[in-house]
Amino acid sequence: MLPQNDPDVAGRQAALEQARHEYRWDHDFLPPLAMLSERGTEHPDAVQAVAGWEFGMIPKDAHPPLRYLVDRFLSLRHMKRNMSRTHSLWARDAFSSLDDYRAMFVELPQPEFMTRWPEDAAFAFQRVGGANPVMLQRVEAPPANFAVSDTLTAQLPDGLSLEALGRSGRLFLCDYAMLQGVTLGTLAGFQKQLAAPLGLFCVAESGDLRPLAIQLGQQRDAQAVFTPASNRKAWLLAKTFLQIADINYHEMGTHLLRTHFLLETFAVAAARTLSSRHPIAVLLKPHFRILIFNNFEGRELLLSPKGLATRLLAGGLKGSTQILQRSYTGYASLPAWSFEDWDLPQAVAARGTNDTAALPGYPYRDDGLLVWAALRGFVSNYLRLYYAGDADVAADSEVQAWAAELAAPSGGRVPGVAAPRTLEALVTMLTRVVFTCGPQHAAVNFPQYDCAAFAPNMPAAAYARAPEAAHTLSDAALDGYLLQVLPPPAQAALQLETVTELTSYRFDRLGYYEDGDFSDPGALQVIAAFQKCLADVGATIGARNRARAIPYSWMLPERITNSTSI
Ligand SMILES: [Fe+2]
Repeated sequence: MLPQNDPDVAGRQAALEQARHEYRWDHDFLPPLAMLSERGTEHPDAVQAVAGWEFGMIPKDAHPPLRYLVDRFLSLRHMKRNMSRTHSLWARDAFSSLDDYRAMFVELPQPEFMTRWPEDAAFAFQRVGGANPVMLQRVEAPPANFAVSDTLTAQLPDGLSLEALGRSGRLFLCDYAMLQGVTLGTLAGFQKQLAAPLGLFCVAESGDLRPLAIQLGQQRDAQAVFTPASNRKAWLLAKTFLQIADINYHEMGTHLLRTHFLLETFAVAAARTLSSRHPIAVLLKPHFRILIFNNFEGRELLLSPKGLATRLLAGGLKGSTQILQRSYTGYASLPAWSFEDWDLPQAVAARGTNDTAALPGYPYRDDGLLVWAALRGFVSNYLRLYYAGDADVAADSEVQAWAAELAAPSGGRVPGVAAPRTLEALVTMLTRVVFTCGPQHAAVNFPQYDCAAFAPNMPAAAYARAPEAAHTLSDAALDGYLLQVLPPPAQAALQLETVTELTSYRFDRLGYYEDGDFSDPGALQVIAAFQKCLADVGATIGARNRARAIPYSWMLPERITNSTSI
């Protein structure tokens, strides 16, 4: 019940007092981000982990269910068999051909973009339906620092000029300026590399997105521009550097910061302000389930000195942390994160990608908006069970305290959160949060296998510099160059293991809850209607996929989890 209707004021406040003791803010781990204060940040050794060391670090009610731990562990059987069967291959010092990367899949399925790599269509599709489908923005013309011209883009559709494409709203840019000057990591003598490229795309008459040009850097330089009319292998190298930039921003920004870590800020603020009897706390519980534990693991496994950021990503720990922080505060052309960025309709409009006539093939947007609408309807119906109108929202001291705690400099420090004064504003707030817990995280997490399990499609780092002289190299030299750029065998194996671990297991399914999560008969009715709505969304997406050249399954409701739990 709402606090204004609860006769047991003292009991409610005592429980909140206890929660505020357990859920304290930490503003020093990744400033200015507000996270849960945990004890210790060093990754435990195997003995400590088995002894349950990690569970002592987080509040008891944030511990994961046993089923999660057991099933997630069991889901890795194929991967472990695969890695032991291919050990002699990836234990080598170097690979001699691309076939060696392909030969690493003996038990595990072939990822979508291993079979389609290196087609331009697959490269373009990953901008609108890959692991990081949030970079594309409409432009009227290429930016001044992009040395691309009509003569360079010999493949412009239908004899159009860049100007005409820009005028018709069919010109798009992916800009990785936020990666400029990131500290580069090293690994066993390898100096890792990362470019801050610009990628230009257009929508052809067929409606398909098509790459036009890539500039490997932010300085205007015609020598650093590659197009589909360049030497085919030089073009592939340029696409590879864009893919490397994309995954480095994706892992630290789109995925870790903009789902996992920022959701933790919302979960901690909720734990400190919403009584467990509050209907919003009841709604959020399954959507925050496992999040804090999973983030705890993320801090240890990813962001500790010997963690995966150090071992896999181009920036190592220092550079990857820079990317993470820039993803929050904004940097170069990337605006600072704000709560409105979690609003899918607003986010696609802000990038100029909401016009379905100009950009007809954007499955993340098209399927995501269906899920968004279903979720908004569910949240609205659920809240209307408890709030008769706007006055009830304004009188709800706990929900007002949640918003205030989120915005407070001593609390969540979240930009863009305002106190909800109307029921509609509260519906919007909750829809953004729950959409990020489930659908948004699923859409940026689960495609990682198809995109990045086969390292040549999306290497986590480059191991040679951007190919400045690639225009003049022979095909044989370019083949050798690509192998130098791609991760060495042990790194390719670790990348495969990591993305398999992140994508092999789903704890639950959007809209389907655990016994005891909801007991109010009104809520159970609303949930049943939500499930029906999600089934309709699934059928629509299924029909769309039958007509798509490359299917998009990451917004299929049955493949979305309730929470950011992996
Ligand atoms: Fe994740």
